[in-house]
Order: sequence, then C-alpha cells, then structure tokens
Amino acid sequence: MKTLRFSNYEELSAYAANEIVQSIKEKPTLTLCLASGHTPLRTAELLVKQLLDEKVDYSRISFFGLDEWVGLPPENEGSCFYFFKTKLFEPLQLPPSQYHLLNAMAEDLDAECKKMDALIDDKGGIDVMLVGIGMNGHIGFNEPGTPFNKFCHIAELDDTTKTVGQKYFKEQTALHQGITIGLGHLMNAKKVFLKADGKRKAEVIQKTVEGDITESFPASIMQQHANGFVIVDEEAASLLTK
Ligand code: PGA
Repeated sequence: MKTLRFSNYEELSAYAANEIVQSIKEKPTLTLCLASGHTPLRTAELLVKQLLDEKVDYSRISFFGLDEWVGLPPENEGSCFYFFKTKLFEPLQLPPSQYHLLNAMAEDLDAECKKMDALIDDKGGIDVMLVGIGMNGHIGFNEPGTPFNKFCHIAELDDTTKTVGQKYFKEQTALHQGITIGLGHLMNAKKVFLKADGKRKAEVIQKTVEGDITESFPASIMQQHANGFVIVDEEAASLLTK
C-alpha cells in the first residue's frame, strides 16, 4: 500500500478521475467499482467530463456499484442507485447492460449477493476500485467486525453508520441493513484507491495507514493490498506521523 497526498479535494479528485480514465484507455473492457457518497462526488463529475472531453471509448467497461441501503427504492434521492444514475449513468448515457448494482429491494437478498459474486467472478474480478471510508473505518457496508475474506453480503449497520448516513437524506430515514460488495473482492481487485478528504477523516486515515490491521477497523486491510493506494488531501493526512 502507498499513501499519496494532494493539496486539496479538487486535486485529489482530479487525480482519481485521471487514473480511472487512463485505466480505461489501457483496458477498454475494464471492470470498475465505485462507491457513492460525498467523497467520490467530484471524482465522478471529473470522470464524466474527462471521458467526454477526450472522447474515450467506454462502451465496453463494466461498472459495479459498491453498496446500497437495504429496503430503499432506487428513486430515493439518498440511495446509492440515485447517485450513480444522476452522476454517471445519465451523463455518460451508460446502458443498463454496462452497470451492475446490488438490488436492495430484492426479496431474496442472499441470492442477490450470490448473483453479484458470480458476476464479478465472471468478469475476472474487479480491475479498479475507488472507495471511501466511514467514520468507523468501514468500506462500503463492511462494518467493524466484518471478516476480511467476506464477499458480497448483508450487513447489520453500525450505530455510527446509521447516524452519519442521515446526511444523505432530506428526512430522518430508518437505516438498518446494507448490502455490499465485500473486502474479499477488494483484496482481489487489481488496483484499489481509498480516497478521503477533510479534517473529520484525519483520525480514521491515521488508523488506516498506521494502526493495527484488524477486522474491528475494516479499512486497515488496505495495508495488505499490494496495489492499494490511500489518497488523501492535506487535512485528511494531517494526523499521519510518517
Ligand atoms: P462519505 O461516506 O464519502 O459521504 O464521507 C464515506 C463512507 O461512509 O463510506
């Protein structure tokens, strides 16, 4: 794992977007997995702009959404689906055949997980993954205590996730479970970027990079990824000692 620092959110976001664009140019059939949320927002915007400006052929990439709140319909503006639809699929006019999101409304959620595991395997694994980090060290809905080798699964949400997660919704929303791509897929991904910005992420970034590798702090697994990059702005890097 390497840590890369950038002066601010904009530069950090542009770096991540450009890395993805270059990966698509190198491998037009790239499998890309992205998180939704506030962290990847600017990267998503810059990714769209760069792909369109440079007329990159992205007609053969496969896109995977990292996670979803269980029970939320896709039209809910706080859902991960809504983020991907408005920030990526619509501006890129990406057809549904090219994107794969976990259906959090499925009657059989376990079957939904198995389907996603099979699909990822079928594509030969994930090539590039861009994730964020939660205030409890989670990645996607891989909550504290999740085994590092788990693939797609249903998670009981940690209290921190339920509380912090309210920021995505206009109204108080009951959040209980999440459905997520697991850390097993992250460890098998050929390249992983964990992106974080802002002072409030400084402590979790310090633990991710310099803390013990433990399932009670999921993002610490990044230390074991041979091609993992923790990419941060100055504020998020401010508690790093090395
Ligand atoms: P954020 O969420 O990007 O909105 O800060 C990160 C997370 O909880 O995974």
